[in-house]
Amino acid sequence: MEYLELNNGVKMPVEGLGTFLLSPADAEAASLVALEAGYEHIDTANAYMNEKAVGRAIAKSGIARDKIFVSTKLWPSVYEAGDAAVDATLARLGLDYVDMLILHQPVGNYLAAWKTMERAYKAGKVKALGLSNFPQDKIAEVIDAAEIKPQLVTVECHPYFTQEELRAYLKPYGIVIEAWYPLGHGDAGLMSEPVFAKLAEKYGKTPAQIILRWHTQMGFSIIPGSKNPDHIKDNAAIFDFSLTDDEMAEIAKLDGIKCYYTATEEALASYLAMRPDFDAQE
Ligand SMILES: NC(=O)c1ccc[n+]([C@@H]2O[C@H](COP(=O)([O-])OP(=O)(O)OC[C@H]3O[C@@H](n4cnc5c(N)ncnc54)[C@H](OP(=O)(O)O)[C@@H]3O)[C@@H](O)[C@H]2O)c1
Repeated sequence: MEYLELNNGVKMPVEGLGTFLLSPADAEAASLVALEAGYEHIDTANAYMNEKAVGRAIAKSGIARDKIFVSTKLWPSVYEAGDAAVDATLARLGLDYVDMLILHQPVGNYLAAWKTMERAYKAGKVKALGLSNFPQDKIAEVIDAAEIKPQLVTVECHPYFTQEELRAYLKPYGIVIEAWYPLGHGDAGLMSEPVFAKLAEKYGKTPAQIILRWHTQMGFSIIPGSKNPDHIKDNAAIFDFSLTDDEMAEIAKLDGIKCYYTATEEALASYLAMRPDFDAQE
């Protein structure tokens, strides 16, 4: 494992397991496989409806709490619940703190929600704070208003879409970019790009491993999602080789081909309207 030092001094394992779209049973099994395979970082969210399952896997693993970096996200429908939203999240996970707490979507009263997160941070319930899917102008708004500046911004990011502008904007603040959809959400087109096949052969790795290594050499944190035990293990076996500068430059030529997700006004409004019963999850 390699680590990133966040701008508040917290040490974050560069790679974690993503659990988006995993049912509680799959999230529990995948998290356990990952922890037993040496992962030290799991990413969940209120909206994934699997926080309880991730919490069960952490407990079952028997691994010391301070050896696991747990990241979760507050959904907009709870932003206005204030401290109770953080406490409910911790209760679902069965933890008394999380390592990273992220505002999931740039809708609703996110500035008030940031104040809630700052209170949780000061109370020791959260070790670092992040924003998810926030465009640059709204990140700036949070930074301007914040007493505790963000440690991380998580956005769609992969070789087809490398977030060049955002990287330049966040650099002076020392804010880490965490790449969601690091494997293009499993896009076979991305993974079968000839450059990855060529490098996979050279290094004795898979195209997915080449892509994940590219991310870490770009300075991104990664949270590849998988429920396949072989993929989960392979995705962590990326720290025993390095791509050369020329190889990184060759991969950079793919930038701009596509992004998979666009936040329309309709989508954002629908996120605000979604009010799942988070406590009802298995
Ligand atoms: N903040 C946000 O709004 C947001 C949005 C989306 C995602 N996320 C986070 O980012 C994580 C990653 O996104 P994602 O899971 O949607 O996409 P991803 O990690 O880019 O891709 C996951 C897909 O790739 C496949 N895969 C994984 N490892 C593989 C390997 N070694 N070889 C071949 N295929 C492989 C998986 O299938 P198998 O199960 O078969 O391995 C799955 O279909 C999520 O789980 C979530 O934690 C956050």
